[in-house]
Amino acid sequence: MRRAKISIIGAGNVGATTAHWSAAAELGDVVLLDIPATEGMPAGKALDLFQASPIMGFDSRLVGTTDWADTAGSDVVVVTAGIARKPGMSRDDLLSTNAKIVGNVAAQIRETSPEAIVIVVSNPLDAMVQRTFQVTGFPAARVMGQAGILDTARYRAFLAMELGVSVEDIAAMLLGGHGDTMVPIPSCTSVGGIPVTQLIGQERLAEIVDRTRKGGAEIVGLLKTGSAYYAPAAATAQMIEAIVRDKKRLIPAAAYCDKEYGVGGYFVGVPVILGSGGVERVIELDLLPDERAGLDKSIAAVKELVAAMDRLTAGS
Ligand code: NAI
Ligand code: 2OP
Repeated sequence: MRRAKISIIGAGNVGATTAHWSAAAELGDVVLLDIPATEGMPAGKALDLFQASPIMGFDSRLVGTTDWADTAGSDVVVVTAGIARKPGMSRDDLLSTNAKIVGNVAAQIRETSPEAIVIVVSNPLDAMVQRTFQVTGFPAARVMGQAGILDTARYRAFLAMELGVSVEDIAAMLLGGHGDTMVPIPSCTSVGGIPVTQLIGQERLAEIVDRTRKGGAEIVGLLKTGSAYYAPAAATAQMIEAIVRDKKRLIPAAAYCDKEYGVGGYFVGVPVILGSGGVERVIELDLLPDERAGLDKSIAAVKELVAAMDRLTAGS
């Protein structure tokens, strides 16, 4: 059986770190692509990572390139191409630059890997997934965005810090867009099976949710020259693994929802079953009135962002 072919578009912080996690976990052979202006950068990173493999004991072929032909026939393509946030910038500030970049990348994917499953990471995430879906014309199940695993991981990390327990014992679910309107679902958050509301008071929980919402900005403020990449890349590698190993993971992802949650044809963060078919199912939860209101606000924000993007990309 041939190994999965995973192409990662954009060999910057998130792309290279996703290549690292993916190769180390032997998820498949990895192609790391960047623009010609980066010259040897993707080739250098791929070679360096390959040279780590005899030491670390993983067996994945790695290629760094600026030539789309090297990505041909990929099973999974990850899109991290674009610019990242700097202090003071919101994810939405990236809209116009990244809509153009992601549109061009999506057109290349359509030509070179027409059967691929595409995981979009570039921001503003919810709009960039929509752009990829528009340009590739791929079935909705084969286009998705990474945000929910990251946002949930941040929430789980903050809860573990608060309670002084292992992160492994915390299960959580967040819905909605990647950004300030993400919606925590306390009824789906537990610590070793105990509902979180029995362990943390409402007010403190609200503070932790607020820190989670601003989790990306917190890292940008600390790094100053870019945005988070270890956790985003680990989250992306988990999605790749679910697909190439057909794990049927129940995880949050930005998935196409039409009738689901009454969204009407947009990509929104929802629980999905992720396997070799891509998004194999969207799970619909019974939401409490305030959770539903939060999700509606988040859906409205996604729609506004997509409308702004559509105005910017009209005719292209
Ligand atoms: P980075 O600046 O380190 O890397 C981006 C790379 O994309 C650069 O190497 C650049 O040359 C490349 N690139 C630009 N245009 C390209 C094109 N047309 N084809 C191929 N490569 C191209 O940025 P970083 O930190 O890796 O972030 C990448 C994107 O991911 C940003 O938009 C960032 O906001 C987003 N992000 C999303 C997260 C999420 O949870 N969805 C989390 C973290 C970052
Ligand atoms: C993050 O959440 C910037 O979207 C990126 O870290």
